[in-house]
Amino acid sequence: MEKILSTILQRSSVRSFTEDKIPQKDIEKILQAAMAAPTAVNKQPWEFIVIDSASLLFELGSLLPYAKMAKFAPLAIVVCGNQKNMLEGWEESFWIQDCSAATENLLLAVEALGYGAVWTAVFPDITRIHIVRRVLELPPHIIPLNVIPIGVPAHEKTPKNKFNPKKIHYNKW
Ligand SMILES: Cc1cc2nc3c(=O)[nH]c(=O)nc-3n(C[C@H](O)[C@H](O)[C@H](O)COP(=O)(O)O)c2cc1C
Repeated sequence: MEKILSTILQRSSVRSFTEDKIPQKDIEKILQAAMAAPTAVNKQPWEFIVIDSASLLFELGSLLPYAKMAKFAPLAIVVCGNQKNMLEGWEESFWIQDCSAATENLLLAVEALGYGAVWTAVFPDITRIHIVRRVLELPPHIIPLNVIPIGVPAHEKTPKNKFNPKKIHYNKW
């Protein structure tokens, strides 16, 4: 119990990595954590693209201005929504919350295993969506939400203390 809480509080974005590779067994643990997230009506509208090709990582990092750290990361996972598994009508946009919950679980698993990562945004920027679609050859019903470069942190990191009692409202506003 205390361990999960300290993992949550220790997590912070990591944007530079050593050259160390991440073993397949750890990649699977990270994906298992991602897919343990809750989803609306249990739709699980997600897909995960695991990128360990140095040339693809370099290409993505070169084309996405806010994901430059992907260029030299040993790994990235792209969390995507699958339109064929989404709810319909006004409920469709639940996929964003579902895939965001998966992303946070993924980031926490990365932290728990001693690696570092950063959430870099793709959706809803249409230019970034097109770039990721083209580079990864995604079919049109697959919407990339983010690109998460992952690796062994190259530097010590200090989590920000974002706890702010003023943001808490008990009972009514
Ligand atoms: C929806 C979302 C989009 C983000 N996009 C980027 C991004 O494109 N590039 C980047 O370097 N960091 C990005 N971040 C990471 C934030 O900058 C980071 O989480 C924030 O500064 C708080 O720092 P911390 O993660 O170390 O607590 C994003 C985070 C979220 C949740």
